Amino acid sequence: MPDMPDTPIQDMPALIATLRDIVGDRGLLTDPADTASYTEDWRRLYQGRTPAVVRPANTAEVAAVIQACVRSGVAVVPQGGNTSMVGGATPSNNGTEIVVSLARMNRIRAIDPIDLTVTLEAGVTLKAAQTSALEAGCLLPLSISSEGTAQIGGVLATNAGGNNTVRYGNARDLVLGLEVVLPDGQIWSGLRRLRKDNTGYCLRQLFVGAEGTLGIITAAVLKLAPRPRQIEVALCAVPSAEAALQLYTGFSRHDPSAVQSFEYMSGTGMDFVLRHIPGTHLPTTPAPHYVLIELASPREAADLRASFEALLMPALEDGTVTDVVLAESDAQRAAIWRLREEHAEGQKREGASVKNDVSVPVSKVPELLARARIAAEALMPGIRMVPFGHMGDGNIHLNFEQPIDMEATAFLARDHDIMDMVGDIVMDLEGSFSAEHGVGRLKPYMMPTWRGGAELDAMRKIKAALDPRGLMNPGKVLP
Ligand code: MLT
Ligand code: ZN
Repeated sequence: MPDMPDTPIQDMPALIATLRDIVGDRGLLTDPADTASYTEDWRRLYQGRTPAVVRPANTAEVAAVIQACVRSGVAVVPQGGNTSMVGGATPSNNGTEIVVSLARMNRIRAIDPIDLTVTLEAGVTLKAAQTSALEAGCLLPLSISSEGTAQIGGVLATNAGGNNTVRYGNARDLVLGLEVVLPDGQIWSGLRRLRKDNTGYCLRQLFVGAEGTLGIITAAVLKLAPRPRQIEVALCAVPSAEAALQLYTGFSRHDPSAVQSFEYMSGTGMDFVLRHIPGTHLPTTPAPHYVLIELASPREAADLRASFEALLMPALEDGTVTDVVLAESDAQRAAIWRLREEHAEGQKREGASVKNDVSVPVSKVPELLARARIAAEALMPGIRMVPFGHMGDGNIHLNFEQPIDMEATAFLARDHDIMDMVGDIVMDLEGSFSAEHGVGRLKPYMMPTWRGGAELDAMRKIKAALDPRGLMNPGKVLP
């Protein structure tokens, strides 16, 4: 980094002129009408302000932008598709933080079907990355509801989980290499694509899940899998969460390598989707709980239907499953998945909700749901529990919708009471307060309780070593 004197923070116009020199007119937005969509999060929990959104076109420009901001003592907020559930990519409302959008860095640099790797830039949407992998005969085994908008940089910075974790792990498990602009403006070129590289601290894993507080991920090498040749999807209506768990145990014992998704939905959440999302309809008889199971295999001869029949016929007979529909076409498969993927949107349209992205050991999911239902009703009569999510990972989005006759603002004013009620149960079950959405701006206050002592102390030391002036995504992750 060039040795230049610090510019006082109040010299924002001079910094903006420097940023314009680096990224050009096309790469800089300063008009509030243009920056508005970058300053509010998807859930509309936070309305921030920013003097400028910078949109660099390449890694060298990102590095130059960071160097300029550091010299001015100005903080930066990295942003991908802005789909964070915890306000992780939104600037604060003090109006001094520069948003760095990676959206223009959207090239897939290489796909290697023999090494089974893709090298791509931070601004590629997850959907575009999946499509390119499929075209090359491969699968990028990461799928989340916001994949059409979410970008690889954000997906990795937040260690996204999603619908395939049960088989392939979280985003972190797919990362072989990274390119990162560090908080001092240096570029770390770590785009290795090795399966074995046992050479000291595993630096790349430090940036995955750091939510942009340690540097900006500009490119990555991700693992791919062979493209499935057989995919089968079933929607099961089940009478209880215990029955859903019993089904999960059956499928994971029968052939764990075939289970690509095992997703849970409640009857209430399904009702919201059917009511608010045009074009959706329920292919099974209504039930208090549903499970979506996807089996997949790269083997042409894999008889996944036989697996479904072997497990679901006895389940139908003994009442573990009350109804089931197997998708007969790609369109039906997509329609079943839509019922699951529109859950967040259905809840949003129904009214105000308080989200709890929690995880517990899979075996404890029924207990979690039973205890939370009782405790929530005692806390706020009429509250509607709308749990759904990745049951195969023990990750339940334990969301609560406002009581029908309550004002949204009055309901949201109690958000911490609801989150604390869930937190107490989850802690008792030895779970996590944030399974896949991260900590962001919403949950740093929970860190001392859940990750205090030596763990938080080590995190603070890492932060101080890499970003001593605290200019990378301030107010996120660490309290
Ligand atoms: C999902 O799995 O659909 C997302 O994580 C969304 C949510 O929690 O609302
Ligand atoms: Zn999820």
